[in-house]
Amino acid sequence: MISQKISQLVNEQVGHEFAAFIQYVAVSAYFESLALPKLARYFAKQAEEEKVHALKFIKFLNDTDQAVAIPPIPQPACAFKSVEDAIQLAYEQEVRVTKQIEAIYNQAASESDRITQNFLQWFLAEQLEEVSSMDTLLKITRRAGDNLFRIEDYVAREGHPEEAIAG
Ligand SMILES: [Fe+2]
Ligand SMILES: [Fe+2]
Repeated sequence: MISQKISQLVNEQVGHEFAAFIQYVAVSAYFESLALPKLARYFAKQAEEEKVHALKFIKFLNDTDQAVAIPPIPQPACAFKSVEDAIQLAYEQEVRVTKQIEAIYNQAASESDRITQNFLQWFLAEQLEEVSSMDTLLKITRRAGDNLFRIEDYVAREGHPEEAIAG
């Protein structure tokens, strides 16, 4: 149903999503260490979403009868210079993942593989939301400067985007 090339790219994406999961666990732990519970919870929730993404890609491989070969997961960054530094890294990660998913989509399009293109639609919409929410969080953080309570207040007020959608 899908090509070896697509199968390989999707397996690589499983690794990228698990890497994002572990990276957000590390970011959440960093915020916990700074006694910033709202930001810690925000990134713990984000980590869980990345795990769900990895499992969705694994299910797609199973559904299309492809072998699942989870690649080695790189060590996450655990030391950060500042709150802004950690959120900047999260923002860049979302931009990078968006490009990775677009690359799979482009490969599928070049193969006229409608199954994969259709499957990736959900991820493209999800990436738009995640890049947008990280960009907003980064801007709020820069505006807050040294007043970390302002970021905590913002996250407490607005919550996580998924919670906002869920109501
Ligand atoms: Fe993801
Ligand atoms: Fe993400």
